Amino acid sequence: MDPLGGSADPLAVLDVAAAAARGFLADLDGSPAAPPGVDAAASAFAGEPLPGVGVGATRALEELLEHGVPAATRSAGGKFFHFVTGGGTPAALAADWLASAIDQNSFSWVSSPLGSRAERVALGWLKELFELPAEWGGVLTTGATMANFTALAAARRWWAAEHGRDLDEEGWSGLPALPVISSGYVHSSAVKALAMLGVGRASVRRLAADPTGRLDLAAFEAALEGLRGRPTLVIATAGEVNAGDFDPIAEMAELAHRHHAWLHVDGAFGLFARVSTLARQLAEGVAAADSVAADGHKWLNVPYDCGFAFVRDPELMHGTFALTGAPYLPTGTDERPSFGDRGPEASRRARALAVWATLKAYGRDGYREMVDRHVELARRVGEQVAAAPDLELLAPVRLNVIAFRFRPSGLSEQQLDDLNRRLGAAVLADGRVYFGTTHYRGCVAFRPAISNWRTTEQDADLIVTVTRELGARLVVS
Ligand SMILES: Cc1ncc(COP(=O)(O)O)c(C=O)c1O
Repeated sequence: MDPLGGSADPLAVLDVAAAAARGFLADLDGSPAAPPGVDAAASAFAGEPLPGVGVGATRALEELLEHGVPAATRSAGGKFFHFVTGGGTPAALAADWLASAIDQNSFSWVSSPLGSRAERVALGWLKELFELPAEWGGVLTTGATMANFTALAAARRWWAAEHGRDLDEEGWSGLPALPVISSGYVHSSAVKALAMLGVGRASVRRLAADPTGRLDLAAFEAALEGLRGRPTLVIATAGEVNAGDFDPIAEMAELAHRHHAWLHVDGAFGLFARVSTLARQLAEGVAAADSVAADGHKWLNVPYDCGFAFVRDPELMHGTFALTGAPYLPTGTDERPSFGDRGPEASRRARALAVWATLKAYGRDGYREMVDRHVELARRVGEQVAAAPDLELLAPVRLNVIAFRFRPSGLSEQQLDDLNRRLGAAVLADGRVYFGTTHYRGCVAFRPAISNWRTTEQDADLIVTVTRELGARLVVS
């Protein structure tokens, strides 16, 4: 029975969706990153009043397929280099479908022993993958923003306890401002998390040595000394978004702990350097941190949305997120944890199933091979950029991001910025590949990032080919 009546076989829509998904995914490797007209096609979803009488599940799904699929960027495909975007591995995608079908509420052991057990195993495997201590606490979140939020909430709890206060019970009243030190690499999502935690965006001191944002280590040490042992929060970034660079995490951990500071590492995608044989030295020292955040929907290649937070002292995760004063809710224990007590959501989908399935399917070796392949592809693109007379590589390729700009001769810096801005818009409109502009080292630059399991050499080569072709057109026009 269709829950709202009327359909002979209410589950027939699942076959329709599966067939359409198969077709979409089969075409993905041959598709541009954004087929022409995606933006216009999306306007089918506008202005329609709420139906009084519904059209039924089959018709609704048909409409979604008819108008939705042409409007979809092929962000799941190998030519989408904008932001840092992963695809869904087949195992992760299938498990994610299953998570929706069995629809487990993974907030507690009672509501879903499966979701809870799978999450415990998945978190344990992730710790193994990233070589983090097994005894650290962890939780799956919707992404790195909420993983930053979760980990920084634990840091905030520690900091208040150092002042003799339970901030989660008592609030801020009477507490001093919480000092936060970072480099210019700090990601906007970590800053957003600080705002959500009431710490405030303006609390962050960014100690940058140069216009890239690289940490000024001497200034960092001096700032910690200046705080004279007052508890402090330090945020390091493993993999900054413009060029994939890393803060010196091992040095920061040593100094932070010498000066009574908590070190949080935002490794949304950079944490995966620890899986690589080619780039693992970049993420040295992460295991000495007090907390770590990363994304699943980036380099782990599980479907949106998924992230994970790890905290050295598991006890600190409960303070902010415990569901208290509701006798009908089960209390988590070490043996039967309630993951809803460790992160921001109470009710939550079983995103552990996709993480479990992809790690089970491809294992440590599969991920090592994929991450190394992406690092090699990024280096290959970096070499192509360096060899092209009209392109400029703006930073060494350290991981999976290539920072560069179009630089034909004879133009002023301002003209180059204007040209690269227009070229950025042209790349997106062209759609064969997809990547955006940023501001890096004081100029407008591109920052394609390679993190999709589907990306091939041919896909990656398009970055330079398309940029030069469209750039040359703009110069003559
Ligand atoms: C370093 C860093 N931190 C945090 C985030 C936020 O991740 P999400 O969008 O998954 O919340 C990103 C996203 O690009 C990132 O690169």
